[in-house]
Amino acid sequence: MQKSILILGACGQIGTELTMALRERYGNDKVIASDIREGNSALMESGSFELLDATNYEAVENIVMHYEIEEVYLMAAMLSATAEKFPMRAWDLNMNSLLHVLNLAKDKKISKVFWPSSIAVFGSNTPKEDTPQHTIMESSTVYGISKQAGERWCAYYHKKYGVDVRSVRYPGLISWKTLPGGGTTDYAIDIYHNALANKKYSCFLKQDTKLPMMYMDDAIRATIAIMECDAEAIKERSSYNLAGMSFTPAELAESIRKRFPNFEVEYHPDFRQDIADSWPSSIDDSEARKDWNWKSEFDLEQTTEEMIKNLRSSDTL
Ligand code: SER
Repeated sequence: MQKSILILGACGQIGTELTMALRERYGNDKVIASDIREGNSALMESGSFELLDATNYEAVENIVMHYEIEEVYLMAAMLSATAEKFPMRAWDLNMNSLLHVLNLAKDKKISKVFWPSSIAVFGSNTPKEDTPQHTIMESSTVYGISKQAGERWCAYYHKKYGVDVRSVRYPGLISWKTLPGGGTTDYAIDIYHNALANKKYSCFLKQDTKLPMMYMDDAIRATIAIMECDAEAIKERSSYNLAGMSFTPAELAESIRKRFPNFEVEYHPDFRQDIADSWPSSIDDSEARKDWNWKSEFDLEQTTEEMIKNLRSSDTL
């Protein structure tokens, strides 16, 4: 019999695509979506959905027991830019939801957990290029502090209680199906929407700010791959570095201009520039490659190709 899965934060940018991918793989009735708000019609109509606040332990436990859930993917989080505006709410959501899920696993109510970390765990003292798996991690953002603390909790629950928790440090994720919200890397999605609408784009980061990024299909593939591999293969129980591509806003604009020669971008950096400046430019993901055969597929040109093709034919415009 297939295992049953619960996704917390299923209606967000990653959760939406992850839910659909898992339903395709394990069966619609085996993957329960949950969020504090409803999602798009494809998600709502393809399987069970529960309105659920991930910070409410009893509510999460009830759903876990009701559906006899074995695996939880915890995708609910407040991202970097929003977290700077609401530090205590971000800490509450990002930390308590994780501790609830880890405690359910510790008490053997579920058997496996996926929780995403981020490049935001790094700070300005971290080596910027090819940032290694193990390095200085002095994050200077509320979001980064919550992800770094979360990584320590994951490693602790694994060592102390044998909890099977698995994690990757996502770079900025580029997708067309669901809009992101409140991230510093969101410009790399907004820019495509503006290009397709024939609008000049005002970028909130400087043109030479190079950040690690990844196309959503790669991120979903990595997430499913790390969850499906043998527990013995997972050597990092904090979180794995994960790399796709790295580019600057100017390079992204250039790749769009190959298809839209008149596309214009202005640069008006705001408070998000400081966040971006504290993050790495590129990531060394050799541990993930070695331990569970990770390899990204999409580079900037393929990403631009896919984004333009899919946004053109979708009704999200
Ligand atoms: N994309 C995220 C953000 O900008 C980083 O994990 O907050």
